[in-house]
Amino acid sequence: MAQFLFVTDLDNTFVGDDAALETLSQKLIRHREAHGTKIVYSTGRSLTLYRELEAEKSLIQPDILVLSVGTEIYHADASEPDTRWSEQLSVGWDRDEVAAITAEFAELTLQPASEQTPFKASYFLEEVDADRVIAKIKALLGDRHIDAQVIYSSGQDLDILPRAANKGAATAFLQQTLGLSPAQTVVCGDSGNDLSLFQDVDSRGVIVGNARPELLTWHHANPSRDRYLAQAHCAGGILEGLHYFGFLS
Ligand code: GLC
Ligand code: MG
Repeated sequence: MAQFLFVTDLDNTFVGDDAALETLSQKLIRHREAHGTKIVYSTGRSLTLYRELEAEKSLIQPDILVLSVGTEIYHADASEPDTRWSEQLSVGWDRDEVAAITAEFAELTLQPASEQTPFKASYFLEEVDADRVIAKIKALLGDRHIDAQVIYSSGQDLDILPRAANKGAATAFLQQTLGLSPAQTVVCGDSGNDLSLFQDVDSRGVIVGNARPELLTWHHANPSRDRYLAQAHCAGGILEGLHYFGFLS
């Protein structure tokens, strides 16, 4: 057993099965004490909504917190996000233009103010409208030369982010700054905003058994020996995957 970089989504991945979460958390804590393993939560939630979940589920302290779909990185004990990361994100990004484009769509409902940040514009969008509206938004972003990405998750959440930021890019940044290799990295997720973790990071991947169709469709179309689709749901699926890759005994 040796040190590894453990990166996990929270909602419906790390969190969702309380008993399995307890088992996994205890194993991770022991592994961190023995081997210096780094525990990273990578969530779509803002700091406000993360704090709510942390209190509700008594989450163990991570070493690093990646918030708002990879647009903010907080190191343990830091009260401000890492500026080495955030300073890279403004290239090609114009939040006011993004807001002007999305205002043209009656199908979009703005998410709560806490979920709107300088580098993340978030809406609710019903699944029946998703393909059509997303295609139009992408076309308008292109026309207006805004280098943004559009991410749809869980049949309801639409995020528009700078090209440079998502969960995958944030993880690659952490691998580099921590000096940890692909073989020492494992990423875990269940939905659309986790796709970049699997697609853009050289690592081992665990897709939990309850994953959403948007992620499963991509997984089946792009099989990889470095990616494991678990049977069990949420933390139970992560435990399964960590055993499969030999990160935990
Ligand atoms: C979290 C965030 C929300 C985002 C969603 C998907 O629920 O609070 O703003 O749209 O994740 O990334
Ligand atoms: Mg999730």
